[in-house]
Amino acid sequence: MRRPLVMGNWKMHGSRASVGQLLDALIRPEQESAAEVVVCPAFVHLQQAVDVCEPSSIAVGAQDCSHMRSGAYTGEVSAGMLVDLGCRWVILGHSERRQYHAESDGLVAAKLAAALAAGLRVVLCVGETQEEREAGEAQLVVASQLHAALAEQASLTDIVIAYEPVWAIGTGLTATPEQAQQMHAFIRKELVQCEGVIPERVRLLYGGSVKAANASALFGQQDIDGALVGGASLDAEEFRQIIAAAG
Ligand code: G3P
Repeated sequence: MRRPLVMGNWKMHGSRASVGQLLDALIRPEQESAAEVVVCPAFVHLQQAVDVCEPSSIAVGAQDCSHMRSGAYTGEVSAGMLVDLGCRWVILGHSERRQYHAESDGLVAAKLAAALAAGLRVVLCVGETQEEREAGEAQLVVASQLHAALAEQASLTDIVIAYEPVWAIGTGLTATPEQAQQMHAFIRKELVQCEGVIPERVRLLYGGSVKAANASALFGQQDIDGALVGGASLDAEEFRQIIAAAG
């Protein structure tokens, strides 16, 4: 049985004040849930989140990390630095980084290796664009991203995959539960080719306009083990309802 995982990707949103209010609303003990919960603030709010979440069961993750361990890399944040401040997770390969920062499959693979070597748990994002889906290339693209990232990882035992169709991110156009399940089942089958991975144990998250209203239908699918939530994770009540739907 795979424990449900709900992760909030706060992207480039928040201030110390708003982050404090959101975290205070999320860490209420009565909100303990069967699902594993992770929040991923912007880098500058990570220490605040780690300190506030420490007494709770909510873990903190980063939205990216460098592929280098240390050195003259202006503006970069290493996986070791994230572990040092109390981060336990990192999101890698998000479509917004692939799109706006030209992150190649090779760079994502290098970041994955650095994150795993530092002891971070990784959520690897994959997903196709509208054009790729309309061209009938969705599975080809997702398989290519998946294998390019995982192929070089020798002792891979713990990985979480987030399927985020680019056309569903921030658009309100959620994939139907059937569309999402079809791709999740495909990803799980592709994982058979990945050395060290036990496909049945890998949690597959769906991301792309997840809301309280559609969460239950998504989580009811056999191969959807949770969600990577963007906008809705910035609203404590909405995010709590999504967590409850997963638990
Ligand atoms: O990483 C999750 C994010 O890309 C999904 O965003 O706002 O569509 O939930 P949103």
